[in-house]
Amino acid sequence: MAIERTFSIIKPDAVSATKIGAVISKLETGGLRVIASRMVHLTGDQARRFYAVHKDRPFYGALVKFMTEGPIVVQVLEGENAIARNREVMGATNPAEAADGTIRKELGTNIERNAVHGSDGPDTARQEIAFFFPECDLPPAE
Ligand code: CMP
Repeated sequence: MAIERTFSIIKPDAVSATKIGAVISKLETGGLRVIASRMVHLTGDQARRFYAVHKDRPFYGALVKFMTEGPIVVQVLEGENAIARNREVMGATNPAEAADGTIRKELGTNIERNAVHGSDGPDTARQEIAFFFPECDLPPAE
């Protein structure tokens, strides 16, 4: 399996709970390397555009409100099979259904306030990385 890149967000709930370090520790222990990172406070417009794929879902408005309530950490992760590996380390979207030892199980509160976001496939990973990181901010791919 080739080295892959994926996109990750440490959400406002985890940032305000001072769990940035705890999240990154789980990611690194899981075999993922942080190759770009930035703290941002999303505007409503940015959050709506980032999550546009969910615009018709009933939780869209609440999700945008949550994602703009405080700063987040956006990051690019690299590693073998990074997209699937990140999803494994994060655990299920709903913390109540996440496996023991996963980030969402340990740090998530509910299906909305679930501590982290990760890309769900290669196309999304490319789009989400490009949304936050200009190519010049990333190390060249191997
Ligand atoms: P995330 O992986 O960032 O993708 C979409 C987000 O919407 C999800 O994590 C949750 O924060 C939020 N969300 C809220 N309700 C739901 C739901 N019922 N199903 C999926 N995602 C939800």
